[in-house]
Amino acid sequence: MSDKTEIRERVSKDYARAVTAQTGGGGACCGGAPAQKGVVAKLAGYSDAELTALPPEAVVNSFGCGNPLAFSSVKEGQTVLDLGSGAGIDLLLAARKVGPAGRVIGVDMTDEMIAKANENIAASKLQNVVVRKGIIEELPVDTASVDWVISNCVINLSPEKPRVFGEIARVLKSGGTMIVSDIVAENLPPEVLKSPILHSSCVAGAISEKDYIAGLEAAGLVDVEVLDRLAYDSNQLESFIGSELADLKEAPGCCGSSARGGDWAKKWASNLTGKIWSMKVKARKP
Ligand SMILES: C[S@@+](CC[C@H](N)C(=O)[O-])C[C@H]1O[C@@H](n2cnc3c(N)ncnc32)[C@H](O)[C@@H]1O
Repeated sequence: MSDKTEIRERVSKDYARAVTAQTGGGGACCGGAPAQKGVVAKLAGYSDAELTALPPEAVVNSFGCGNPLAFSSVKEGQTVLDLGSGAGIDLLLAARKVGPAGRVIGVDMTDEMIAKANENIAASKLQNVVVRKGIIEELPVDTASVDWVISNCVINLSPEKPRVFGEIARVLKSGGTMIVSDIVAENLPPEVLKSPILHSSCVAGAISEKDYIAGLEAAGLVDVEVLDRLAYDSNQLESFIGSELADLKEAPGCCGSSARGGDWAKKWASNLTGKIWSMKVKARKP
């Protein structure tokens, strides 16, 4: 098994645990702050109107770091592909935008996330959304078949980002657009880069804006532009890191380490403030 496969398996296991954790149900690590599942949607920039129109299980199981569709001009009848669609928050929002004549496809590698997304799609009575099991490094999607690629806090988790950027360029139609919300980082301390927990929490795998843009351009995408940035203060960062992985009781290295202490999210948040932020980046296939 390659390191890359191991990283994906670890990430998938952590998100399976996060989505099956009881909502607000004492999933706190080592008796620290209570699990904060659901806070992410509020930080991410969804409007109250968007959130109240969604099944509650889609909102509490949102693990994104932005609202990529808010920066798009998706139209009725178009096809939208969501990379790492999770429990489906952006799939449901996209499905309403494209309407019955359009199509929305989610791709995710985690069975538990796909099951939750399918429950949320059924609860929303939408007929124009499907979720396919697969990895974003090798998308189960035809070449030049989608108008939009969106993704919300997923590409940072990939151990093979150039492959993901190449797949985005492959599946977009000519003239199609990518809008991605993702975590980017500068000067992460070496101990952060080694931490599997912080990788799954969307921190340790993050690359710089410069490398992200260079990766998209190397894949052949053009007009690459950062549309927006969300810098987290220490409290927001603590909520974000803690809520990405709500049930960490059994996570290796979580407990009993004097370097981390019980309240690990708080500790890491103060250490990382100013070093990581969320960006919305747009690119076009010529
Ligand atoms: C941080 S969550 C974001 C979920 C969703 N986009 C949202 O905004 O709620 C990351 C999701 O991406 C999936 N994922 C991570 N790496 C992946 C990969 N290489 N291929 C496919 N899915 C992946 C995980 O299973 C998980 O559902």
